[in-house]
Amino acid sequence: MTDLIQKLPKAEIHIHLEGAILPGTAMELAKKNGVTLPDCERVEDLYSYDNLMEFLAVYGAISDSIVTVDDFRRIAYEMLQSAADNGCRYMEFFISPHAHKDVPFARQFEGIRKGMADAETDFSIVSRIIPGMNRELGPAAGEEYLDEVLANRGDDVIGLGLDYNEAPFPPEPFADVFARAAQAGLHLTAHAGESGPAAYIAGSLDALKVERIDHGYNIVEDPALIARCRDEGIAFTCCPSTTKYTTSWRDLSAPDHPIRRMKEAGLAVTINSDDPPMFATDLGREFELAHADLGFSLQDLKVAILTGLDASWLDETTKRQWRAEWVDEIDTALSN
Ligand code: ADE
Ligand code: ZN
Repeated sequence: MTDLIQKLPKAEIHIHLEGAILPGTAMELAKKNGVTLPDCERVEDLYSYDNLMEFLAVYGAISDSIVTVDDFRRIAYEMLQSAADNGCRYMEFFISPHAHKDVPFARQFEGIRKGMADAETDFSIVSRIIPGMNRELGPAAGEEYLDEVLANRGDDVIGLGLDYNEAPFPPEPFADVFARAAQAGLHLTAHAGESGPAAYIAGSLDALKVERIDHGYNIVEDPALIARCRDEGIAFTCCPSTTKYTTSWRDLSAPDHPIRRMKEAGLAVTINSDDPPMFATDLGREFELAHADLGFSLQDLKVAILTGLDASWLDETTKRQWRAEWVDEIDTALSN
């Protein structure tokens, strides 16, 4: 079953470049660039935390280790290679340029683009970039951030996200900067309802006009919002393993786990890997956990895959073509 699920074609629309760095790569690059990482005996112990704040501290420390064009090329390439090994054909990934304090945006984009091009050649995986805005830095820094993003923009920069710690950083103060991003032709999404309340989901939809919600688990607090999101077809980019680290739902097989309840409520749930090595997972495993622990039948996995493709920001012609191909491929795999 593991093999079958791993090979199914997939779109990954919620993954962070800096959260996808392999622990061995982080150690190697830190040493090369003279950066001190938290002391640990085994490489894997670097990725140890019990909540979102602790996780973000390690995320910041390893981001300090990524400095040169080739460092960025390498981490983008390795992220895409691992995803392709897990059936991923198309990826929209977040980047956190602010996390690399003294590295110019242009250098970061140059390396990332090299990694994307090399991975497309080697593994046929197509990818696009979503710069994530660090909400903890506030909306004024967000305006400067958007200027930098637009200055380095290419066709591969497809949207704008909002991430980092939710409370006390509600979405509404970012309304103007998100409106300017939309004006510039970027798609919009926001992390909401992971560590923050359901009101941040509504605020992201109403004030920021986002097209999809990243995580969204605390929607289970608000039945009216569930009904609204179901009616409006809002897609939720859920990440099963993340919930074990950053939410109060630590047991994926619990009957009240929000991803299970969101699917049962008829919401447009997609399955993603967020920060795979940092949460001891990969994309195939996230689908396997959905099947084994979260009550997704194989048909539900098919629906989640197609929902991910539909919620992606690929052009409509490609989406239609891939959808037809993937349906055939999945049906064949599931009937064997
Ligand atoms: N950045 C990387 N992973 C994140 C998460 N799970 N929540 C908020 N910001 C993040
Ligand atoms: Zn995320």
